[in-house]
Amino acid sequence: MTIKIALVTGGSRGLGKDMALSLAKKGIDVILTYNTNKVEAEKVVSQIERSGRKAVALKLDVSDIKSFDKFISELLISLQTNWNTNKFDFLVNNAGIGVTLPIPQVTEEAFDNLMNIHFKGVYFFTQKSLPNMNDNGGVVFISSGTTRFCVQGYSVYSSLKGAVEVFTKYVAKEFGQRGIRANVVAPGAIETDFNNAAIRNNPQMKSFVASQTALGRVGKADDIGSVVAFLCTEEAKWINGQRIEVSGGVTL
Ligand SMILES: NC(=O)c1ccc[n+]([C@@H]2O[C@H](COP(=O)([O-])OP(=O)(O)OC[C@H]3O[C@@H](n4cnc5c(N)ncnc54)[C@H](OP(=O)(O)O)[C@@H]3O)[C@@H](O)[C@H]2O)c1
Repeated sequence: MTIKIALVTGGSRGLGKDMALSLAKKGIDVILTYNTNKVEAEKVVSQIERSGRKAVALKLDVSDIKSFDKFISELLISLQTNWNTNKFDFLVNNAGIGVTLPIPQVTEEAFDNLMNIHFKGVYFFTQKSLPNMNDNGGVVFISSGTTRFCVQGYSVYSSLKGAVEVFTKYVAKEFGQRGIRANVVAPGAIETDFNNAAIRNNPQMKSFVASQTALGRVGKADDIGSVVAFLCTEEAKWINGQRIEVSGGVTL
């Protein structure tokens, strides 16, 4: 059986870390990227290696679009050195940040930063990755429950995630002829470092979100990774161009 390789952006912490570990559990090798947390990223690599799969961590700032060509060159060297190939199979566009900014407080600078990380970076990173991916692979985009319901202060973030959801369908449409599938996973509120650990550090918000969730709690990182990993398997071969919300049934 040919080994499959997945690239997960922002795999050093939070949801991306769980995605990387879950992919490895499915027998998929992983290239994970970090922005600032090399030490944490290397710990994820070691954990995957201990489980018997191959993993590598590379540095990537998804907001620095001009750096993508250099990143792809490094990626190709890593693929050649570690896997003796020049292609990977699955791209998981996960890296991101959270900021609470009510509309009157949004500056052009804050808007541009969120835009570069959550949409422009995702768009061009995907564009530059696709020629280096095998046919019959896939792209998983990470959106948010907040494209379906509104959370105060998330206007820019959620609008950009909405753009990602539309882009997903275009990737599915334009790359279907290569057998490449594109889907969106939209998590509800998950207890990670996201947005200054807003859920973890704010008991009031945590119990409010839990009260609005059919399953009666907020999400944990390991509620999400397994769904992303599933989308990168043959079992999901007919799922394409879809948004899958993974939120325990919030605001139903
Ligand atoms: N947590 C939630 O409630 C929630 C809900 C819905 C959707 N999401 C989405 O899920 C994704 C992951 O969120 P999370 O909760 O796992 O956040 P997190 O715990 O804060 O982790 C963020 C990850 O993204 C990386 N990252 C941040 N800025 C980056 C940049 N400019 N370039 C490259 N990598 C960057 C970080 O790398 P370093 O550690 O190296 O800095 C880290 O690996 C995001 O797209 C977020 O919008 C989260």
